[in-house]
Amino acid sequence: EWSSQPEVTAAHPPKNAAGDGDRRPISTVLIIIAMQTEALPLVNKFHLSEDIDGSLFPKGVPWVRYHGIYKELHINLVWTGKDSILAGVDSIGTISASLVSYASIQALKPDLIINAGTAGGFKAKGACVADVYLVSNVAFHDRRIPIHVIFFCVNYLYGIGARQTFSTPNLIDELNLKVGKLSTGDSLDMSPQDEVLILANDAVVKDMEGAAVAYVADLLSVPAIFIKAVTNTVDGQKSIAEEFLQNLIAVCTTLAQTVSQVVDFISGVYQIIG
Ligand code: ADE
Repeated sequence: EWSSQPEVTAAHPPKNAAGDGDRRPISTVLIIIAMQTEALPLVNKFHLSEDIDGSLFPKGVPWVRYHGIYKELHINLVWTGKDSILAGVDSIGTISASLVSYASIQALKPDLIINAGTAGGFKAKGACVADVYLVSNVAFHDRRIPIHVIFFCVNYLYGIGARQTFSTPNLIDELNLKVGKLSTGDSLDMSPQDEVLILANDAVVKDMEGAAVAYVADLLSVPAIFIKAVTNTVDGQKSIAEEFLQNLIAVCTTLAQTVSQVVDFISGVYQIIG
């Protein structure tokens, strides 16, 4: 449970993950990933093994859990798996991400969630291919509910689902990460209407899972951070799909490096969960 006294588990005792609040060492980390290409470099880096007994999730679901101990942390990496019918296609998007988040939190009781993945970036806001962002805020851009009751736009706000992520100023300082807002929707491309809402969300990166993972993490009161690596820009001349496929493998290597630095940081410091 929460301890009011800091526990000395750390290589860098004076630093905290968050800045203030209660202190509790993180022991179990849940990494949620949507694509196999994003997952495998991390499975290798942390020497994780696949859960073959399969009892964690309901029979028949494609979700895959890898696990292992790395620097005294219990690392669980859950990949949403390949679609059950369309073999070979990763289960990307908000539905699978929400379901996997819910089931994994229930089963594993993690102290921290890391949602890691690729994202599209806005050149106009400074994003470049291969940049890795730590996300400060998430919101949706494809859930439009324009019902206003008198002057209140609560339905609209519910659709946007904006929330702040778990605050980690020391992590940002230590790893010198780019920080920005993320907008989530169930499409890889960007319709003109999506673009308006993404810009209204002030997002620098867009993905297909983040805000859904954040919603479930909030529901179940688990701190969550979001690490998103840019495979393509969305406001340039190039085709999003082409650029995405061209850069995917290289950017996933960069993503894995950053995630492992984050995990190294977590393993080496006092943890604060507010
Ligand atoms: N992941 C990588 N590129 C993306 C994009 N353009 N939109 C949503 N998710 C992405």
